[in-house]
Amino acid sequence: MLLGWYCQTNDIFALCGPDCSARKTINTASPSEDVNMSKKVIEVSQLVKEYDGRPAILDGVSLSIGAGEFVTVYGKSGSGKTTLLNILGGLDKPTSGDVVIDGESIIGFTEDELSRMRLAKVGFVFQDFNLLMDMTVRDNVALPLKFSGNHNLGKVDELLTKFDIAPISGDTVSRISGGEAQRVAIARALINEPKIILADEPTGNLDEDNSRIVVETLQVVARDFGTTIVLATHDKELADYASSIIYLADGKAIFKTPILS
Ligand SMILES: Nc1ncnc2c1ncn2[C@@H]1O[C@H](COP(=O)(O)OP(=O)(O)OP(=O)(O)O)[C@@H](O)[C@H]1O
Ligand SMILES: [Mg+2]
Repeated sequence: MLLGWYCQTNDIFALCGPDCSARKTINTASPSEDVNMSKKVIEVSQLVKEYDGRPAILDGVSLSIGAGEFVTVYGKSGSGKTTLLNILGGLDKPTSGDVVIDGESIIGFTEDELSRMRLAKVGFVFQDFNLLMDMTVRDNVALPLKFSGNHNLGKVDELLTKFDIAPISGDTVSRISGGEAQRVAIARALINEPKIILADEPTGNLDEDNSRIVVETLQVVARDFGTTIVLATHDKELADYASSIIYLADGKAIFKTPILS
C-alpha cells in the first residue's frame, strides 16, 4: 500500500521571505503548555548501518528524543544524516539495532505497516519542494487527509491561518512565491497531526534569511503543536537553533548543547 508514502513524500517545507507578514506569527508564538517533553517518541539503540562490507555509516548509534523536542542532526556530507533520518522514518532498514517510534519497534514492520506508521506519525520535509504545482494551496494542504481517511477540514483552515496562507488558499501552487510554497508544505506536513517531522536539509536551497525563518518556523511547530522535529543540516549556525544537537562523525553520535540555548 503505497498511498500513504506517496502523500508523505509530498510533505515539504515552506517558509516566507524576510518581509512576509507570517514572520510576525512565527515570532509571537507562545509555548504549548500541555506537551509532555519527557515522553520519548524516538528511541534508537545500537543502530548499525553498513553497505557492502564497507566501514559502517552508523556504527552503534543510540539516542532518544522526547515529545516536542527540536533536535538537529549535524555532520559533514556523507556522515550519515540522511541515512539516520530514513531509518527513523522507516524508509530504510538498519543492519542491526532497534528503532522505537512512539513506543513501537518498527524494525520488524512489513512495508504496509511502515506505510501506515508514516501516514499516522511522520511528516517529511525535504530540500526540494514536492508540492503538486497544478493544485491549489488548500488542496495541497488537505491532500494527506484523503489518504488517512481523516475528514477534519477544520484543521486545514487552522493551518492555513496559522501559517498566513489563508488569503492565497485558492491560488494554484505554480503561481505562489517560494516562501509561500514553503509555508504550504509546512501546513501539509502537519495536517495529519504527526508526532514527528523529519526534515532533511530543508534549507538546502534557501538563502540565509529564509533558512533562518524555516528553522524558526520549525521551533514554533515543536512548541505549539508538541511535534518532535528532527532536522538534518550541515550548517552549524542552523544546528544551533535546536534544543539539542546530534553530531554525526565516523559512524558515532555525539550529543552537543547548542550555543544559542
Ligand atoms: N544505497 C547506498 N548504497 C551504498 N552506499 C550508500 C547508500 N546510501 C548512502 N550511502 C553512503 O552512505 C554514506 C552516508 O550517506 P548519507 O546520504 O546518509 O550522508 P549525509 O550525511 O546525508 O550527506 P549529505 O550531507 O551529503 O546529504 C555516504 O558515504 C553514502 O555514499
Ligand atoms: Mg543527506
